[in-house]
Amino acid sequence: MLHVHRYIYIQKKILIIMVYMEAIVRSYDDQIDRARVEDLERRCEVGPAERVFQLYTDTLGDPICRIRNSPMYKMLVAEMDKELVGLIQGSVKIVRVYNKKAKVGYVLGLRVVPIHRRKGIGLRLVKKLEEWFISSDVEYAYMATENDNEASVNLFVNKLGYVKFRTPSILVNPVNNTRPIHVSSSNIEIVKLKVEDAELMYRRFMASTDFFPDDIGNILRNKLSLGTWVAYDNQKGQSSWSEELKPKSWAMVSVWNSGELFKLRLGKAPLSCLIYTKSSRLIDKFFPWFKVIPSIPDFFNPFGFYFIYGVHREGPVSGKLVKALCQFVHNMAMETRDCKVIVTEVGGNDSLRFHIPHWKLLSCPEDLWCIKALKNEDHTTTVHELTKTQATTKALFVDPREV
Ligand SMILES: CC(C)(COP(=O)(O)OP(=O)(O)OC[C@H]1O[C@@H](n2cnc3c(N)ncnc32)[C@H](O)[C@@H]1OP(=O)(O)O)[C@@H](O)C(=O)NCCC(=O)NCCS
Repeated sequence: MLHVHRYIYIQKKILIIMVYMEAIVRSYDDQIDRARVEDLERRCEVGPAERVFQLYTDTLGDPICRIRNSPMYKMLVAEMDKELVGLIQGSVKIVRVYNKKAKVGYVLGLRVVPIHRRKGIGLRLVKKLEEWFISSDVEYAYMATENDNEASVNLFVNKLGYVKFRTPSILVNPVNNTRPIHVSSSNIEIVKLKVEDAELMYRRFMASTDFFPDDIGNILRNKLSLGTWVAYDNQKGQSSWSEELKPKSWAMVSVWNSGELFKLRLGKAPLSCLIYTKSSRLIDKFFPWFKVIPSIPDFFNPFGFYFIYGVHREGPVSGKLVKALCQFVHNMAMETRDCKVIVTEVGGNDSLRFHIPHWKLLSCPEDLWCIKALKNEDHTTTVHELTKTQATTKALFVDPREV
């Protein structure tokens, strides 16, 4: 009898300890969590552990810098026994999804400290963020990860019912600081558009592109957006761009200065990186060659990068115009302190990739995007449509705020 009592007593104690040890998930509090979030980021290894060199992100003292520019955003933290053990970020906006406008929630920056992994904390963080999405009337949640991030793919696809729907490519081109690139053809005219004109052009030519943001004007007007440029074949010798010119071929791009938000840096020893955090999703996808090339001295100091977004082209020779615009952006990047690479992300089979200068060695051919319908059956049908092979060849608008 005594044994039975003791057994029940011990069981109760274990239960109390388990309840006590369960992580509490709550909203990020800038006052008390700022330093602890940076510390947590530092302790979390992301991506393959065999990587000799790690890439770090310096968020310049602002852990939520990656979501701050979105219309609505939230960071959640998981706390256990007064220690931060996990975090997640999310942002909400309206975009084009499969021929109609929809409110979408983007899941990013999910981290759980190594010693508390496989205890269900990651799952709880995502579920809690999804609750916030649902209360904000979000129809679809989506996320991006590395194809070979087994933990992340299992968690989102197998546990949470997300569906793989796109594999865009991240194209990376280094900035050559010694000499500007000669823009390929003398007939090509490159003109900077006024923000209002750029917005009109995007709404006219890209509004039906998947994930085109309804608040494109906010992106273009953001201080991180350096401008929009259009290139056209100036056979007629016109001195200024106007749509009435009706050039047979033209192309446009916009440029976002990510280096103003956070810096990247290559580190040999994680412990030496006291002020650096690893919060950008790009960090795992950049520079796969770190495994094979032992030393790239240029990248050991903090550096920034440009993100080219909103790439659009029309006409038979528009490929060379896209290339000319990229060369133009390269030369602009040369003038920007610390800007060492130019990054673009294009849809999986989008032929644009052939015209955007990049180093294969630095680029990531398959960034995996997964999506989940948070509302009714109609939305689930849309997700099925999105995953059809035909959709994977379509263009995709990659929001520079989500890099
Ligand atoms: C991905 C990550 C957040 C998962 O956190 P976690 O708290 O360990 O996950 P959970 O305990 O909630 O696991 C839920 C499910 O995810 C899957 N999963 C989690 N870790 C896994 C692993 N290492 N290998 C395979 N599947 C895994 C399993 O299906 C698991 O369910 P199960 O334990 O019943 O089998 C964590 O591994 C991490 O911080 N990784 C580094 C950062 C990262 O890669 N983030 C994702 C970027 S999108």
